[in-house]
Amino acid sequence: MFDDSLIAPAPRAAPVPGPTAPAARPRPAAPRIRTLPGVYAPQEDSLLLASVLASEPLDGARVLDLCTGSGLLAATAARHGAQVAAVDVSRRAVLTARMTLRRFGCRGEVRRGDLLDAAPDGTWDLVVSNPPYVPAREDDLPRAGARRAWDAGRSGRAILDAICAAAPARLRPGGSLLLVHSEVADVDLTLRRLRDQGLEVEVAARQRIPFGPVMQRRAEALRRAGRLRPGATDEELVVVRGRRAGE
Ligand SMILES: C[S@@+](CC[C@H](N)C(=O)[O-])C[C@H]1O[C@@H](n2cnc3c(N)ncnc32)[C@H](O)[C@@H]1O
Repeated sequence: MFDDSLIAPAPRAAPVPGPTAPAARPRPAAPRIRTLPGVYAPQEDSLLLASVLASEPLDGARVLDLCTGSGLLAATAARHGAQVAAVDVSRRAVLTARMTLRRFGCRGEVRRGDLLDAAPDGTWDLVVSNPPYVPAREDDLPRAGARRAWDAGRSGRAILDAICAAAPARLRPGGSLLLVHSEVADVDLTLRRLRDQGLEVEVAARQRIPFGPVMQRRAEALRRAGRLRPGATDEELVVVRGRRAGE
């Protein structure tokens, strides 16, 4: 069960700009999580992954949250008894995630840096991530600012591919990687990459949502590139699971 003490009914406040939050639509839930300016406030993708995460066997599990942002996923795992570490490249995200863990009475180590290079040593029962996945105009990744939370190169896969390449080797036998992203970043390719790394793969959850402001701005280019169907005004979010076989 999702730990809904971490979220609250939507207030009437304006939504936080981001790839999935629309400009003029009330948000379905407002996380009881405060974020420093420029840090990604939890949105539909965060909540979809959190709901899958919350139904995993977490008590005593070793869980790594890559691209932690607000720390919602790390706090969800910790509230269910997991031993948690989290990583983000943004200094403000690291401070926010530490604040979130403290605020919800959870323990966890939050480190600043690049994906698994910054993670504590060892292997994990569960690696979770809601990485940047929105196709951008250029391949160079932003080095600062809010766009770092969603811009992921022209393919939208710069961070996804790095996770698919590095995370499987860091899973314990029987451990899983849970990744959320939009259909525009090619779900089949994620499944293939993880299968090629020897994982058993499946789609654990799907949710269709209207475009937020970032997707609205990029939709025309994505339609022209054949990555969205003509006239599309919504996108499907997918949670992919890659599981390492048990011993
Ligand atoms: C879409 S946000 C997700 C935040 C949070 N996990 C959630 O679900 O709401 C992506 C996060 O990835 C972080 N990020 C981007 N590139 C990264 C990298 N190479 N290593 C670690 N974190 C990164 C951003 O700073 C941002 O906080």
